[in-house]
Amino acid sequence: MERSIRFDLLANRDINKETFVEPWPEAGLIVADSPYDPQPSISIDDDKVVEMDGVPRADFDALDLFIVSHALDLDVAVAAMAIPSKEYARMLADINVPRQDIARLIAGCTPAKLTDIIRHMNVLEMMMGLAKMRVRRMPANQAHVTNWREHPALLAADAAEAALRGFAEVETTVRIARFAPFNALAILIGTQTGRGGVLTQCSVEEALGLRLAMKGLTSYAETLSVYGTELTFVDGDDTPWSKAFLASAYASRGVKIRFTSGTGSEALMGRAEQKSMLYLEARCLLVVKGAGSQGVQNGSISCIALPEALPGGVRAVLAENLLASMLGLEVASGNDALASHSSIRKTAKLMLQFIPGTDFIFSGYSAIPKRDNLFGGGNFDAEDFDDYNVLQRDMQIDGGVKPIREDEALDIRRKAAEAIQAVYRELDLPAISDEEVAAATVAHSSDDMPERDIVPDLEAADRFMASDSDFVAVMRALQRGGFSEVADNILEMGRQRIAADYLQPAAIFDADFKVQSAINDPNNYTGPGSGYRPQGQRWKDIQAIPQAKPPTGFVEPHVGEPLSRLVEIGPAARGRGKEVVLALGPAFGRVLGKTIGGLEHEEVLKAILSGIAGEGALARIIRVYHSSDCAAIGFVGARLSGSGIAIGLQSRGTAVIHQKDLAPLNNLELFPQSPSLTIATYENIGVNAARYALGKSTVPVSVKIDNGARLRLIVKTALLHRRETDEVCPGQAPVECLFDWEPD
Ligand code: 5AD
Ligand code: CA
Repeated sequence: MERSIRFDLLANRDINKETFVEPWPEAGLIVADSPYDPQPSISIDDDKVVEMDGVPRADFDALDLFIVSHALDLDVAVAAMAIPSKEYARMLADINVPRQDIARLIAGCTPAKLTDIIRHMNVLEMMMGLAKMRVRRMPANQAHVTNWREHPALLAADAAEAALRGFAEVETTVRIARFAPFNALAILIGTQTGRGGVLTQCSVEEALGLRLAMKGLTSYAETLSVYGTELTFVDGDDTPWSKAFLASAYASRGVKIRFTSGTGSEALMGRAEQKSMLYLEARCLLVVKGAGSQGVQNGSISCIALPEALPGGVRAVLAENLLASMLGLEVASGNDALASHSSIRKTAKLMLQFIPGTDFIFSGYSAIPKRDNLFGGGNFDAEDFDDYNVLQRDMQIDGGVKPIREDEALDIRRKAAEAIQAVYRELDLPAISDEEVAAATVAHSSDDMPERDIVPDLEAADRFMASDSDFVAVMRALQRGGFSEVADNILEMGRQRIAADYLQPAAIFDADFKVQSAINDPNNYTGPGSGYRPQGQRWKDIQAIPQAKPPTGFVEPHVGEPLSRLVEIGPAARGRGKEVVLALGPAFGRVLGKTIGGLEHEEVLKAILSGIAGEGALARIIRVYHSSDCAAIGFVGARLSGSGIAIGLQSRGTAVIHQKDLAPLNNLELFPQSPSLTIATYENIGVNAARYALGKSTVPVSVKIDNGARLRLIVKTALLHRRETDEVCPGQAPVECLFDWEPD
């Protein structure tokens, strides 16, 4: 086949590194509306569900049984199921229906009913629904902090930076399981150095996870996975009841828990039972609710690439976030695992959670470089921090983080690395050297860290795990080592595990260790003017990206003393003969001295005059005061020119060759890209104007096309133009100028 150059190029774009597949319901490769998905129904006899979604009680699997026993509100179920699905969809999108009214009825809906409601909704309607149904008013964000070296000082420094950036939760995991206690310890010390009250977890096997929590090294757990078919559940050695028990075990020790589920896991495990991913996720979510979890991490999570390979996948992932919030669950809404090679696609997908806001927009954001991410690569990484901050600033949306300055980052990273150095020293763990602290302070990744012998670390971790040592020992070590503030924060985290207020739905701590949850900060969105929106100091923090410059700095380098050689001698008259008029803007060579490209006005004048003289034409200079507009300047010049030809020149360097019989906004040649113009171009402009004046045939001056110039320089352009416009005197006629210079 013939090859299209364009298709060949497209084939090599990032988007075409992805895998796309056609749906195959029999294999569970369908995100919603499988032909095998059941129709919603419920029959209740004597307070007992005798049939649900077309399945009689005798045929219930473990999930059905758990759902009817623990998740469904049977007092509303019959009435709730009788309301048409489309009516629910409309209520979700309607700002006039409060979330409580919907939540009350949703409590009686079966998995097939929940799925059926989504059938009527597009992503925009779902985003409206999510903005309203999200349980906590203020959105937040979670970070991932790991590194492949599992270096304690680097973990602590990155956790501290993440805390300073505003993440409300920080999660770590391990490459080598035996590192669990030390990685948990490192991000505990790091976060509590960055900002007291950041919740932390270490994602490991459940029994180990529970022991870490009981040692006070972690304060939340979201490792409790559930699946939408019985056989996948059993593959994980679990039942809904065992998960509920585990959740209670964590909660009884004051540890916040959140389950994990998400579209795609059942198909990935080969046991989707021909059902759509979304229907199976609806079952998961009812199990989560029935198990008494306050929240869920969903949005496909580690399976995200699978729904994204299918049509409607990104929509279905938003749908599962929405379903969770409809059930009153805190939602940590994915965007964590690497989901796309294409930055366009990954950002577009993010918007579905970022714009409505969720309890945790990422679960988590990779606050480290991709190659240090032991969760299998983040969808957004440390490299994307500035992009993300700008997205918040662009849309006035609180994405749960804020920009920080480099010096703040260095200070907090050093402090965290020194704090963990002190703890290792006081607890007699393998020493962290000053060199390691210094490296962790400035590091971006593991590659920036010196080698560290992991064998003594692993042995020490084993001993620490086997001992009675817990966060109290850590706190004492911090105190002895001179880090009493960090020690106080860790003590406070311990106190909070006993108070356990943060086991309320969707709880996080604010900067003063005050719980913000769905109880004391419930989402009250009911349309324009309501709900959460970043205002006051928070909006100022979001705006304050260090890259934003004060506007005055853009003009200052271009201000200059009046050119002594350029003098105004009186009113400009109409000329005669084959002259070219050079018409200058009101600020040219007076208050401004350089073009936007940094060329001295004096040099630009000389170049143009040389060009005109070289062709044997006469030149006359006038200054225009009534306008700063390039076309107007050139046009006035042309009408005063004996030949009818003029060059109009603004202070920022934009130029036009005009002719008196043309319409004012027409021209012979226009040079709008002033930053690309060189002294040689200005000379050529002079040459061409002279040739027009002399009636010679003329090839238009060629200029470099720089598509990025406007993007780079638009602020400067606007402010230089404003400075010139400040010099405009509306009634003042053009004046004749003399430029005391002879071309050689
Ligand atoms: N469904 C259920 N559990 C998931 N996990 C990741 N993705 C999913 C999903 N789609 C689990 C992992 C691990 C935890 C971090 O999340 O198996 O237990
Ligand atoms: Ca997470």
